[in-house]
Amino acid sequence: MKVLILEDAGAAYDRAAGLIADEITANHRAVLGLATGGTMLPIYERLVIRHRAGLSLSGITSFNLDEYVGLAPEHPQSYRSYMRRALFDLTDIDPALTHLPRGDAANPMVEAERYEDRIRRAGGIDLQLLGIGRNGHIGFNEPTSSLGSRTRVKTLTRQTREANSRFFGPDETVPAFAITMGVGTILDARQCLLVATGDDKARAVAAMIEGPVSAVCPASALQMHPKAVAVLDRPAASALQLGDYYRHVHPDGSEREIR
Ligand code: F6R
Repeated sequence: MKVLILEDAGAAYDRAAGLIADEITANHRAVLGLATGGTMLPIYERLVIRHRAGLSLSGITSFNLDEYVGLAPEHPQSYRSYMRRALFDLTDIDPALTHLPRGDAANPMVEAERYEDRIRRAGGIDLQLLGIGRNGHIGFNEPTSSLGSRTRVKTLTRQTREANSRFFGPDETVPAFAITMGVGTILDARQCLLVATGDDKARAVAAMIEGPVSAVCPASALQMHPKAVAVLDRPAASALQLGDYYRHVHPDGSEREIR
């Protein structure tokens, strides 16, 4: 895994947005895997700024990682609404080419299979954007998720529901289930870009990069991916044993020329 440690969170978001913009520039018809959550908001803000400066997303197809079961796309707390507010409504991305699982599907299990099939028919994902949960989840693949799992319904942990309650009103309950791409689905992406900032992610980040590959930390499956990049700020990187080495290989998160 390529580990890029940036000076602060702002620099990490700049770097992540730059890598996504590079992918879009190189391939106007790229298939992007998108994520939600707090970490992604400043990254999408930066992409919107780049769009205003000329970056077109009009040919891009997108597949989000997950959606809450029970929430219709129009629900303000659905991930479809989040994506509209953060990116879709603010750029020229074609809404018909944006995909999220339907949280209100009559049969969420069938919907999960349909979603997996849609990704396959689109030719797979070129670049998958990921955040990480404090418990090491990616997408909503909670600890002990099969590392070979495909898109399916998962029960959210109490910790994840508490962490995400900040996006819900005081008298709203965070849904208990989500449809999420599986770890195997994520590993099929041709590139993975995981972004983590803040010291509350430090333990999960260390387990992901330096711990054993284990279903207890689903993000550790990225160690098996041939093209995975972790973009971190210093606090998120603070529990890494080999931090000096990563900084030596990629000073300030840069690519070093090999002569
Ligand atoms: C949501 C998702 C989750 C989040 C993770 C971190 O689509 O994929 O895995 O990336 O829960 O969330 P934040 O960034 O809010 O800490």
